[in-house]
Amino acid sequence: MSAPVLDIPSLEFAYGEHVVLRMGDLALQAGDACAVLGPSGCGKTTLLHLVAGLLRPTQGSVTVCGQRLADLDHAACDRFRGRHLGIIFQRLHLLPALSVLDNLLLAQHLARVPRDANAARVLLTELGIEALARAKPSMLSQGQAQRVAIARALVHRPRLLLADEPTSSLDEANAQRAIELLRAQAASAGAALLVVTHDQRIRGQLGRELTLAPP
Ligand SMILES: Nc1ncnc2c1ncn2[C@@H]1O[C@H](COP(=O)(O)OP(=O)(O)OP(=O)(O)O)[C@@H](O)[C@H]1O
Ligand SMILES: [Mg+2]
Repeated sequence: MSAPVLDIPSLEFAYGEHVVLRMGDLALQAGDACAVLGPSGCGKTTLLHLVAGLLRPTQGSVTVCGQRLADLDHAACDRFRGRHLGIIFQRLHLLPALSVLDNLLLAQHLARVPRDANAARVLLTELGIEALARAKPSMLSQGQAQRVAIARALVHRPRLLLADEPTSSLDEANAQRAIELLRAQAASAGAALLVVTHDQRIRGQLGRELTLAPP
């Protein structure tokens, strides 16, 4: 069997003496989808940043596709993240000066995969926003921008898709749609999906679930 896409035997993170995250075993295989739930301040965003290599654990380790992130220097970790991870941050960080399509092409460029406008358009079509390819992010509704962020996180075909509160500003119908899109798109790309959220509407929507308690 191939190495898990994500392997965390155990993990702890502290700011100085203040432990803000402590958790046990989490392993995801390609195609797995997992929601990490928990109240505000329990360490969900911290976990996402640790998995993305944006923070380094104070104890334990994070291994993505067989690569222990702590063994990479910062530049190598940036390249690794760019190539293998797709991240949907709570603030979507779409570049306002670029069209929707150019936001996707830039993501391919930053991941150092060949530019493929056709693949980008296919994703936009699957997400029902192909008509917005030439629109600027400021012209989009929140739900549309969320779908663009999903497309941008997938356009370089990452092995692991991370999403931080992807439904927090969406109404019932759009929240349901966003989580279905994430799940379906990750599955069709063969990626593992990790969603961190306090949104109880996510319960029962992904194959796996774990609840983080404040440490
Ligand atoms: N830069 C920092 N310095 C010190 N403490 C921090 C820092 N960033 C976050 N924290 C603390 O770490 C804890 C976990 O924060 P984190 O953002 O991971 O929570 P969260 O579960 O994502 O919360 P929310 O649901 O509100 O997004 C909180 O107690 C927070 O105050
Ligand atoms: Mg958070």
